[in-house]
Amino acid sequence: MELMRIENLCKTYGKGENEVKALDNVSFTVPKGQMLAVIGPSGSGKSTLLHILGGVDRPTSGKVFLDEQDVFAQDNKNLAIFRRRQVGLIYQFYNLIPVLDAEENITLPLIMDGRKPDKKHLDDLLELLQIKERRHHLPSQLSGGQQQRVSIGRALFTSPGVILADEPTGNLDSKNSAEIMKLLQKSNHDYEQTMIIITHDENIALQCDRILTLSDGKIVSDKLNDRK
Ligand SMILES: Nc1ncnc2c1ncn2[C@@H]1O[C@H](COP(=O)(O)OP(=O)(O)OP(=O)(O)O)[C@@H](O)[C@H]1O
Ligand SMILES: [Mg+2]
Repeated sequence: MELMRIENLCKTYGKGENEVKALDNVSFTVPKGQMLAVIGPSGSGKSTLLHILGGVDRPTSGKVFLDEQDVFAQDNKNLAIFRRRQVGLIYQFYNLIPVLDAEENITLPLIMDGRKPDKKHLDDLLELLQIKERRHHLPSQLSGGQQQRVSIGRALFTSPGVILADEPTGNLDSKNSAEIMKLLQKSNHDYEQTMIIITHDENIALQCDRILTLSDGKIVSDKLNDRK
């Protein structure tokens, strides 16, 4: 079943001679439950694409449908609700709130949505992410890898249908990246969560169902993997 449909997406930054076409007419669909890797050189538009799919940035033109809903036809208030409920975004540079501790960063989106965090669910997730002992530390008191785990926890905590991850293992050693990949695969499998994962790591891309390659804002390759 098709979950996401991306139609003729364009994103242009700047004007005149400073104009950059970060996305140039990108179209593809994503079936529910797919684990999709997005690869491509630096500056090819990967983060731009992810931010638009997560509703944090608007396209210059083109459309994104999630469950037949036209994401950018919504007003800002409903777009904010979409961001809180339907997608979990793991940012390349974490975007943690510096004055909130690990636990508060993880529970913030749920609380903003007027819901009460479930203590057991939180404990389980902190355990799984191996940051239980660091739950009351501020981001500045955490290593890069630990901050990355907090940002992953924040995206997973609300159990959204779609996880959008920008280099989720970019700051981790190979043992830790393998653990984070296992966690994402488990979440993908147990909850039929759809995942779009940007990576520079070929190993990670090969663990996904499909690999989409961007270059200069365009899709240059779209291949299925035999995931075993
Ligand atoms: N806010 C912005 N203003 C102007 N140009 C931007 C902005 N954000 C991104 N760009 C430009 O758009 C292009 C795509 O950037 P993007 O961050 O999507 O690349 P990327 O594929 O994620 O790269 P990386 O692998 O280095 O993270 C780049 O040329 C970048 O300089
Ligand atoms: Mg990027």
